[in-house]
Amino acid sequence: MARMTTDSPSGAAQPALTPQEALKRAAARAALDELVDGTIVGVGTGSTVNHFIDVLAERQTRYRGAVSSSEASTRRMQALGIPVFDLNEVVDNGWPIPVYVDGADELNCDLEMIKGGGGALTREKIVAAAADRFICIVDRSKLVDMLGQFPLPVEVIPMARASIAARLRELGAQVTEREGFVTDNGNRILDAAGLRIERPAQLERAMNDWAGVVTVGLFAIKAADVALIATPEGVERRSRALD
Ligand code: A5P
Repeated sequence: MARMTTDSPSGAAQPALTPQEALKRAAARAALDELVDGTIVGVGTGSTVNHFIDVLAERQTRYRGAVSSSEASTRRMQALGIPVFDLNEVVDNGWPIPVYVDGADELNCDLEMIKGGGGALTREKIVAAAADRFICIVDRSKLVDMLGQFPLPVEVIPMARASIAARLRELGAQVTEREGFVTDNGNRILDAAGLRIERPAQLERAMNDWAGVVTVGLFAIKAADVALIATPEGVERRSRALD
């Protein structure tokens, strides 16, 4: 069960931000306190992570560089002068990645997530798996009692699109293929709406076995270790620590 404490955002929101963007910024800024000096940080993808990249760029002396989960995040980091390393190089050299920071489309009380709204789920899962701890940064709108209101993204090999869609329909989902979207890996995304996901890790394991599924956007087998949830009252820190 998650442990809850409340922290104040460590920096003021920029005046031009909308209230929701200000919450994302606050969650992103709070993640700076989770970094380990002098190490590589894993960086996710999305609008909340874009705020994290921006605040990370202000702290360049404190970390060695980043491993990226998407072409979009790589471009943003490089534009801001953040060194971006190839994951294989980092692993081959035995450099630790103590922390992976990413957003989520939905987050439940066990810190299980739906991710992939931006289509970067495969590389996100790869970088998250290489890191010691997953730090999820969200505004409170992402909190849900049960995963599944947000359509579940599934990255599929193009030739398996119809078969995977049929299997998802058998589970009761309404399936749409993301129009005109090709992932960084050259694959397609199916969005499965209307699923009530009572056992996220079980569904993730089952779908991992479907031929043609590259990645399912459930992050439950490896859920977040820490969630930084921005609310107008401050950033709430929840952890899945074994305590
Ligand atoms: C990207 O593929 C996603 O997994 C994002 O992490 C997720 O969609 C959250 O994005 P926002 O921060 O833009 O809501």
